[in-house]
Amino acid sequence: MQKQEKIVKMFDAIAPTYDVANRVLSLGIDIKWRREACEFALSEYAKDDISIVDVACGTGDMMKIWQDTAKKQGVNINSLIGVDPSNGMLAKAREKFSDFNFKFIEAYADNTTLKSASADILSISYGIRNVIERKEALKEFNRVLKNDGLVVVLEFTRRSKEGFISRLRDFYLQKILPKIGGFISKNKEAYEYLPNSIEGFLDAQTFCDELRIYGFEIVFCKSFSADISTLFVAKKIRNC
Ligand SMILES: C[S@@+](CC[C@H](N)C(=O)[O-])C[C@H]1O[C@@H](n2cnc3c(N)ncnc32)[C@H](O)[C@@H]1O
Repeated sequence: MQKQEKIVKMFDAIAPTYDVANRVLSLGIDIKWRREACEFALSEYAKDDISIVDVACGTGDMMKIWQDTAKKQGVNINSLIGVDPSNGMLAKAREKFSDFNFKFIEAYADNTTLKSASADILSISYGIRNVIERKEALKEFNRVLKNDGLVVVLEFTRRSKEGFISRLRDFYLQKILPKIGGFISKNKEAYEYLPNSIEGFLDAQTFCDELRIYGFEIVFCKSFSADISTLFVAKKIRNC
């Protein structure tokens, strides 16, 4: 089995316990990070009838936060689409949001099957690190977004600083998280994958550089909670 396929199978396996593990492992702080991302992007974009695509949507939490934030800010979302290759995660999302007007597509980030220049905002939360064909995915995000559209990325980036806080973060990610995540999901391997995938990803500065290469201008880049999570908001300024 290819590496990408193995990753997707792993998410299929942990889908039933994914939400509980997420809330416990982040002590609920991820909700705050997600809200801040949506609030910032919607106030920055300043249009009031928009289409949003959430890539690597998983169980759909980011989609719900887009919807709630848009409502609060008086923005109409005319289409809210979640894209993910894991049918286990999508099944959970469909079950949770059966009463919502969300659409789901089973597809990879580098081939979403969406129309060119069809989205105002494309988000990917804690997903890009899992995408093996990352550069192809960034090209795809550029293709799917309208000119001036925003890509909104939340991710655990590789640390670039030394120091006590960074060591504490690493200790939590490498020693504590796999134990708790493994206990909740009964799948220790999946939660050992998380710190390894962060190590295999980029630091925040390098990811900003990569976004620029694929036609984006960085609008905002902010690290949360001792650099655990980083928010990137970038605008499509040219086709690539
Ligand atoms: C850590 S979960 C994040 C889910 C959700 N975005 C959230 O914030 O809770 C990562 C998600 O990325 C998806 N994924 C893995 N490889 C992918 C790829 N190549 N393209 C798109 N999504 C992918 C997985 O199926 C999984 O649902």
